[in-house]
Amino acid sequence: MIYSKEVLKHFKSPHNYGKIENPDGLGVVGNMACGDEMFIYLKIKGDVIKSIKFETFGCVAAIATSSVVTDLVKGKTIKEALEVTKQDVINALGVLPPIKIHCSVLAIDALNEAIYNYYEKNGIIIPKEIEEKHKQIIKRKSCHS
Ligand code: FES
Repeated sequence: MIYSKEVLKHFKSPHNYGKIENPDGLGVVGNMACGDEMFIYLKIKGDVIKSIKFETFGCVAAIATSSVVTDLVKGKTIKEALEVTKQDVINALGVLPPIKIHCSVLAIDALNEAIYNYYEKNGIIIPKEIEEKHKQIIKRKSCHS
């Protein structure tokens, strides 16, 4: 498999890798089809993502896309973070092999789930689109395609 320089850079030295103890939001997604699992941890102040870390057990692209997602949303408001798309992730990496595009979705899903968890924990009314995305993520948990 041929990866772009940017993918390999993030894979070899991932940004924001690790765990946050007592996170304000935790997103966990897994792809049973390929055995990958991804955790995103958030610390939120006001409505700004002050800190974000990830742990990904998976393929090269899953690690690189997780790393890029954390870069793209760190310091952003929750609203801005929710506007980050899979295409933004791919653009930041230059290119992803077509067979690995679903890995970028996994990273975006983990972020959505972490924000969902933050809303839930804090008794904040969950916006309809976040609730909808959450339901879709749960539904496709068994097969990420
Ligand atoms: S192959 Fe499963 S997320 Fe990359």
